[in-house]
Amino acid sequence: MLSKCYRGSTGKLSCITCHDPHVQPSREKASAYYGGKCLICHSDTSCTAPLATRQQTSPPDDCVGCHMPKRDVTEISHASLTNHRIIATPDEPFPDVTFQLTTPSLPNLVHLDAIPNEGDGAPSPLTLLQAYGQLGAEHREYLPRYFDVAKQLETSEPNNTEVLEALAASSLQEKTPDGNRRATEYLNRAIEQGSTKAWDFEESGALLLRARKFPEAEACLRKGIQRAPYDAKLYSLLAEGYVATNRPREAAATLTQALKLFPQMDLLRAFLNQVEQSGASAAKK
Ligand code: HEC
Ligand code: HEC
Ligand code: HEC
Repeated sequence: MLSKCYRGSTGKLSCITCHDPHVQPSREKASAYYGGKCLICHSDTSCTAPLATRQQTSPPDDCVGCHMPKRDVTEISHASLTNHRIIATPDEPFPDVTFQLTTPSLPNLVHLDAIPNEGDGAPSPLTLLQAYGQLGAEHREYLPRYFDVAKQLETSEPNNTEVLEALAASSLQEKTPDGNRRATEYLNRAIEQGSTKAWDFEESGALLLRARKFPEAEACLRKGIQRAPYDAKLYSLLAEGYVATNRPREAAATLTQALKLFPQMDLLRAFLNQVEQSGASAAKK
């Protein structure tokens, strides 16, 4: 909808201009197939780029390859791979209307890949929850919306791990004993539902350690390491639990295991040295 093609053709460009629900062109044929769709409205000579440059793409004159480039998926998770804003040059600024696209049902987000003329285009509450959660990690002003959407979903999606995580995060930020208790319950439920997210085990393990419930903390962190083995914090929390219960040998073994996976982490190495030194001085006594 932000493409000049859409805006300049009074909305004649729609999903089915390019996609036929019954046809999925093969990878080899995709360029010719979608390029042909451009020619419904444009011609070979519409393009102002030099012909020689256009012949250099593979396959040659790949309209879509230049004008609808693939996006870096590591940057935007859950978003489509193909940039559906058809642009002449990559640095092309968004048109002014972009910044007036919020709706009453979506007051602080713009749904860039909404399907034209389909309802108000608001994504499902679960998609919204993910969007606010991802944004909230870097822009805290989105967190209240993240927590609100989670509360709305609590009764309809009581076993969804993403909902449970959001409810746990919301309870944790109250910073009260009651909030922590509720957070523990939500996290336990997420873990029972099979969550593989390190954060759930980190938070739950840390709460249990703080409450000095060591056997529970150990069980939780060990399960976390099984399900999310590449999270260094789980190992250091588990080692902290061992130190607190006077089990330096287990602490050292846990940290050594972690250092095999994360040899670059100086903090883990410093922790291991500390554990080994205090173990040695305890042995001398
Ligand atoms: C439904 C008709 C339609 C289709 C299909 C279409 N376009 Fe367009 N396109 C337009 C119109 C209309 C404009 C605006 C022309 C203007 O404003 O002068 C435009 C503008 C453009 C521009 C200029 C964009 C800019 O920001 O300056 C490019 C590039 C472009 N189209 C490429 C494509 C490509 C590539 C395809 C196929 C993937 C395509 N178009 C499919 C109608 C269409
Ligand atoms: C101007 C042509 C055009 C229009 C209009 C268009 N698409 Fe696409 N779409 C493409 C191209 C090209 C690809 C990449 C295909 C490939 O690489 O095989 C694509 C890919 C996709 C994919 C696969 C994932 C991805 O992003 O690569 C989805 C899903 C999709 N489109 C949905 C839509 C929806 C929904 C609409 C309407 C809102 C739409 N498209 C409108 C050209 C178009
Ligand atoms: C090598 C990449 C490349 C290929 C392949 C290519 N284009 Fe372009 N196209 C460009 C660039 C870059 C511009 C902007 C050039 C400029 O500065 O005016 C452009 C401009 C355009 C415009 C806007 C012209 C205007 O009046 O502003 C249209 C429409 C267009 N291309 C359509 C197409 C179509 C249709 C195809 C396939 C038949 C195609 N292009 C193939 C790179 C490409």
